[in-house]
Amino acid sequence: MRGKLVVGNWKMNGGLKANAQLLSALTAGWAGAPDRQLAVCVAYPYLVQAQAALSSTPIAWGAQDVSEHAAGAYTGEVSAAMLAEFGCRYAIVGHSERRQLYCDTDAIVGAKAKSALGAGVTPIACVGETLVERDAGTTERVVLRQLDAVLAAVGADAAKLVVAYEPVWAIGTGRTATSEQAQQVHVRLRARMREAGAADVALLYGGSVKADNAKALFAMADIDGGLIGGASLKADDFLAIGAA
Ligand code: PGA
Repeated sequence: MRGKLVVGNWKMNGGLKANAQLLSALTAGWAGAPDRQLAVCVAYPYLVQAQAALSSTPIAWGAQDVSEHAAGAYTGEVSAAMLAEFGCRYAIVGHSERRQLYCDTDAIVGAKAKSALGAGVTPIACVGETLVERDAGTTERVVLRQLDAVLAAVGADAAKLVVAYEPVWAIGTGRTATSEQAQQVHVRLRARMREAGAADVALLYGGSVKADNAKALFAMADIDGGLIGGASLKADDFLAIGAA
């Protein structure tokens, strides 16, 4: 029986003061649950703050990206070993904003996932189609191509991945995929993971998940939780999604 994983993606939001309030509301409101893991992925400068606030709590933390390189002349990059030093359990890789705005290709996303795993950090590998791709009927082809690049890079470690399906047209738009639309894609992702010997990985859904639609999404057979953007910045909303 797979548990549920609910991860907040704070994106480039926050500040010391606002984070302190949010983190303390989350720790006060989340006692932990055997079948549920809550985590927040914060901007790099705040990892130390998340580590201090969350270390002795059931809430995990992580980063929103990671370098594919181990060390060296890569100005502006942060390695997986650095994330591990700050206690990160997770690193998001291949978020559509990184793919679209920062040219993260399928190959780079695969290399980032591999580098995270090498340092003991769990990659949350994101896949998802644009509206144009969905309308063209290529959703399945796109998400499987993205997933296959990650699987090729991580090889025998496929079972250590978390995968997040995030349709690009549903991110930050208020337009969520219906539970059935999401489940349809998750079934395909699950089948591919099964072929890779990793049928039981957590498959998250992301894209305008809110307190009022989380329960229906998470009730689907192959949706094991969510990657939450906007709603993760409000403690009450995020806690409600965590409990959904
Ligand atoms: P959203 O973002 O919940 O604000 O749509 C999700 C994400 O980008 O991970």
